[in-house]
Amino acid sequence: MKYIIANWKSNKNLAEATKWFNEFKLNPSTDNKVILAPAFPFLGLVNQLKPANLEVAVQDISPFPAGAYTGAVSSLNLQGLNVKYAIVGHSERRRYFHERHQDVANKVSECLANDITPIVCVDDEYIFDQAHGIEEKYLHKCIVAYEDLAAIGTGDNTPLESVLKVQELIRSVFGQVPVIYGGSVNPGNVKPYLENTDGVLVGGASLDPDKFSQIANY
Ligand code: PGA
Repeated sequence: MKYIIANWKSNKNLAEATKWFNEFKLNPSTDNKVILAPAFPFLGLVNQLKPANLEVAVQDISPFPAGAYTGAVSSLNLQGLNVKYAIVGHSERRRYFHERHQDVANKVSECLANDITPIVCVDDEYIFDQAHGIEEKYLHKCIVAYEDLAAIGTGDNTPLESVLKVQELIRSVFGQVPVIYGGSVNPGNVKPYLENTDGVLVGGASLDPDKFSQIANY
């Protein structure tokens, strides 16, 4: 079983999201855990249109519980929406929204206190700092995505050997967690990652239903 995760980021409007589902095909008997992380407004639509074996994630979650936090989406807000996973600490959140390791660690706690599995994104430089903030009892419950900054959205995917080295580093601090790779994954380069890691996090190529079908049904 491999994790194959689509991260739509803040792309697509309602019509485009609907069209994607007309064209996306997922083998009903695949062994893979195929997961889609749409923007929040499409969670209802995704639940209506998705194949039964496609799972649902969010791209972020509030580091706070439900309450007076205007604009935040808490784990309580997500109840009943079939959300089993949350991407946390994506480098774009760190870069453009100034998230710090402790914010990400708090998001991990919010997820796990509410039966959502966090997909923690890390680059090799700060694996130790990130892990340090996370409650120890939660470390081994994370999925960890190694996302090399130089590879995200550049078409320049990280060589497998480097990914495997970082995978080892990740497991030395998080324990025997699933480690997946993200950064310019496409149908043409996905093979070595799927054969040697626990899966992939796909940005750009997931926007195209045909490309993502090819990866998901690998
Ligand atoms: P990319 O994005 O596939 O477009 O490089 C990956 C990610 O940011 O998760």
